[in-house]
Amino acid sequence: MNLLYEGKAKRVYATDNSDRVRVEFKDSATAFNGQKKAEITGKGVVNTAVTARLFGWLQEHGIPTHFIEQLDDRNLLVDRLSMVGLEVVVRNWVAGSLHTRTGLPEGTPMDDPVLEFYYKNDALGDPLLNEDHIRLLGLASPDLIARLRQEALRINQVLKPFFLQRGIVLVDFKLEFGRDAEGNLKLGDEISPDTCRLWDRESGERLDKDRFRRDLGGVEDAYQEILKRVVN
Ligand code: TMP
Repeated sequence: MNLLYEGKAKRVYATDNSDRVRVEFKDSATAFNGQKKAEITGKGVVNTAVTARLFGWLQEHGIPTHFIEQLDDRNLLVDRLSMVGLEVVVRNWVAGSLHTRTGLPEGTPMDDPVLEFYYKNDALGDPLLNEDHIRLLGLASPDLIARLRQEALRINQVLKPFFLQRGIVLVDFKLEFGRDAEGNLKLGDEISPDTCRLWDRESGERLDKDRFRRDLGGVEDAYQEILKRVVN
């Protein structure tokens, strides 16, 4: 049915409006650039509802996103965006590749968020880019880089308290941006336990895709816990 694109965790379909697409969230999960694969039962349903809730919340706080409406338990209707070829990562606590890169212990708090850009390029394994690399590749102008940075930090300021009120520490997360048919810059893709590190405020328990990446067990339960706290 008018499949435009199939990714590792989502399918994108055309609709009868050429400016809008339907995004379907799958249960498939991959890690380490697709080397590790599994089905996480119910993940698609969780990520659909969590993304709808968070994007709705961001829009209520003046952040433009592609989100239009949730169609059913696995499908969102969104604006069709022409994507910027970058992943924007915001970090509040040291974890994951920042720990590997710097040697700072996981769970080290940071006074100011750390922002990183990664090249969306599976063949290269999504490498970290600095701003000169982004310019060299023609992925974004200095002005667009500045806007992405400002927008990502604004999103962090809105999401951090949202999660904290629900007993969750927003450790880090990944964003993707694009332009709609009128050229407006909007947040696209998803925000879910696949694309965030979410730690229980009291116990520090990992409630995100790291349970799958690191074989911690309890993957499905962690996704359901996030659904319960964020959506219900
Ligand atoms: P990292 O520590 O592995 O660089 O991940 C930083 C954040 O980005 C973390 O919240 C998970 C998210 N992320 C994605 O959404 N997609 C990816 O492909 C990777 C590697 C990380």
